[in-house]
Amino acid sequence: MENPLFRPLELPNGVILKNRIAKSAMSDSLGDGTGHPTKAQNRLYRRWAEGGVGVSIIGEVQAQPGYAEKPGNLVLDDNADLDRFRTLARQGSVKGSNLWLQLGHAGALAYAPTSTPKGPSALDLPDLKCAALTDDEIRKIPAQFARTAKLAEHAGFGGVQIHAAHGFLLSQFLSPLFNKRCDDYGGPIANRMRLLLETIGAVRAAVGPGFVVAVKLNATDQLEGGLSEDDALAVVATLDQTKIDLIDISGSTYFPGAKAASDGAGGGPYFMNFAKRARKVTTKPLMLTGGFKTRAQAE
Ligand SMILES: Cc1cc2nc3c(=O)[nH]c(=O)nc-3n(C[C@H](O)[C@H](O)[C@H](O)COP(=O)(O)O)c2cc1C
Repeated sequence: MENPLFRPLELPNGVILKNRIAKSAMSDSLGDGTGHPTKAQNRLYRRWAEGGVGVSIIGEVQAQPGYAEKPGNLVLDDNADLDRFRTLARQGSVKGSNLWLQLGHAGALAYAPTSTPKGPSALDLPDLKCAALTDDEIRKIPAQFARTAKLAEHAGFGGVQIHAAHGFLLSQFLSPLFNKRCDDYGGPIANRMRLLLETIGAVRAAVGPGFVVAVKLNATDQLEGGLSEDDALAVVATLDQTKIDLIDISGSTYFPGAKAASDGAGGGPYFMNFAKRARKVTTKPLMLTGGFKTRAQAE
């Protein structure tokens, strides 16, 4: 019988991934400190592509330097030397592999020594202090993500993944633990997903139809008072009505006292039950990330 892992996957925009094997987003800290790719990074992504992955995703690529998650993040803005990104895109796309940039904004979790952490709401916890973004700053975010997506397309990357997982900015908006707002961006889940939807709309409008726009979403924050599975499912159902090409399901959040996705997990993939529930509310391609240890599990 044909192995399902090696069956091509056609995305809604018509792009075909050559197989179902993905290297999920990882913040590799291999940027040169000015936000540009290094030779080590080019070599790493080339090697993944040579290894045969259908797609690999570079974690935490920032639309602006001010909210980086780590100093080694890539920053793709109007000041970037696009040729250096072109080299990375070319190296990481050999053998028909897709290379996507994950669009990040660390928000409340921005790297404090070089940033001023700001999230949906001000927080003053022993291990997490941040200010609240102003209304004006929030309104500018979709256009900032969109500009980086457009630059990524110009540089030759195949797509972007909008990062709305693991407690970074768009995930903070989804999570009642970070988002205490009383305006159109806070309260019920329909409001908490507003910035994500505005960002998807702006990104999709800025790039051509053949450029992939994916989203990474938490199935749950795995924290009392955080994003619940039912609310995450409402987000999936709404994403179904947008022009995104893939939903990458993962979970857990960086928050004081939070457990990691791997804590308490058995031997198998995490969030499988949620993925099965999500399958019922969307026809979008789903990617499930986390805990895969064997080929049999992946199949
Ligand atoms: C070193 C490291 C860096 C990571 N960086 C990111 C990141 O930048 N963006 C992201 O969405 N997830 C990031 N993750 C989470 C992974 O994408 C994935 O969700 C998690 O590792 C669980 O999958 P696994 O069990 O296959 O490792 C990172 C994980 C590791 C281990």
